[in-house]
Amino acid sequence: MERDWKRSVGGSAVSHIHYSVMKNEALKWLAPQKDNALLVDGTLGEGGHSHAFLEAFPTLNVIGLDADSSIQEKAKARLAEYGSRMKFQNIWFDDFFKTTQEDSVHRILLDLGISVFHYQQSQRGFSFAQEEKLDMRLNPQSGESAWDLVNSWDPDDLANVIYKWGEERYSRRIARAIQAARPVNRADELADVISRSVPPAYRRGRIHPATRTFQALRMQVNQEMPRLQRVLQEAFRSLEVGGRLGIIAFHSLEDRAVKQFFNHLHRDCLCLPEAPRCTCGDVHRGMLCFKKPLIPQPEEVGENSPSRSAKFRVIEKLIPQVDMP
Ligand SMILES: C[S@@+](CC[C@H](N)C(=O)[O-])C[C@H]1O[C@@H](n2cnc3c(N)ncnc32)[C@H](O)[C@@H]1O
Repeated sequence: MERDWKRSVGGSAVSHIHYSVMKNEALKWLAPQKDNALLVDGTLGEGGHSHAFLEAFPTLNVIGLDADSSIQEKAKARLAEYGSRMKFQNIWFDDFFKTTQEDSVHRILLDLGISVFHYQQSQRGFSFAQEEKLDMRLNPQSGESAWDLVNSWDPDDLANVIYKWGEERYSRRIARAIQAARPVNRADELADVISRSVPPAYRRGRIHPATRTFQALRMQVNQEMPRLQRVLQEAFRSLEVGGRLGIIAFHSLEDRAVKQFFNHLHRDCLCLPEAPRCTCGDVHRGMLCFKKPLIPQPEEVGENSPSRSAKFRVIEKLIPQVDMP
């Protein structure tokens, strides 16, 4: 899932470049139901969603998380005017929620993936068009980089990652071509190696032949799926009764994980799925705020075309935390 569609949101006076997806839907379904409530924006980025919430709800307090300290600096500058209503933490979202008190947070928003900042300004090799060193870490201080994977991993392991996270059907031949071309230092070099390794018809396809491989490497480097699996449990645990968790996903694997987790919370009793509260005496922990995921309105897709792959789901917590099976 490439997300380099985010357009500039202003002229030279505006330094943020990320288009916040499904902002109106997030404001509607995650609107606080009390004064002085807490929203945790688990994927702060340049702060677009947080900004909208702080503007719309004058007593709301927000904690904004991001694994990437560089983008968080941009959000800090943008949101400085909100003073103590806005707090920041440079942390992975799953690590944050692991330590929050249970039944304590009113609203949580996760807008998964990366920002246009990463493609255009981070210089970490997220975009296959750039002459940048391969890195792709959101937190460049720790963990294996894309360079490490590409240049030192066994080709079978590399192929498995490209297949698993990128759903790339030419994963094996791409991994072999990478091995033969080592060292592969820059993003544009890697894109070139990939392009030359796939059949000509695939090269002329709808998307660049390196798109899926780049996505897979980024997901592996940042452990995106394992972190999502962990944060689902921990974020829901942190919600107070009546609290809501809203997630915008762009990748089918991510949306499937969210859907399965939410459905499990919603269906875990004998009551009809339509029932607002459990009356069967069985454990019923969450209520889906709507059955099918919301998708962007045609106007939003017209304005910001790749937002078309966004899916937004929201669950509300119904009872205090009980041990998960
Ligand atoms: C799609 S952008 C969010 C954009 C933001 N909602 C806005 O409107 O400006 C996702 C952000 O979350 C961060 N991020 C991604 N995965 C993360 C994780 N597991 N923990 C913390 N931050 C993460 C990325 O660094 C990126 O800045």
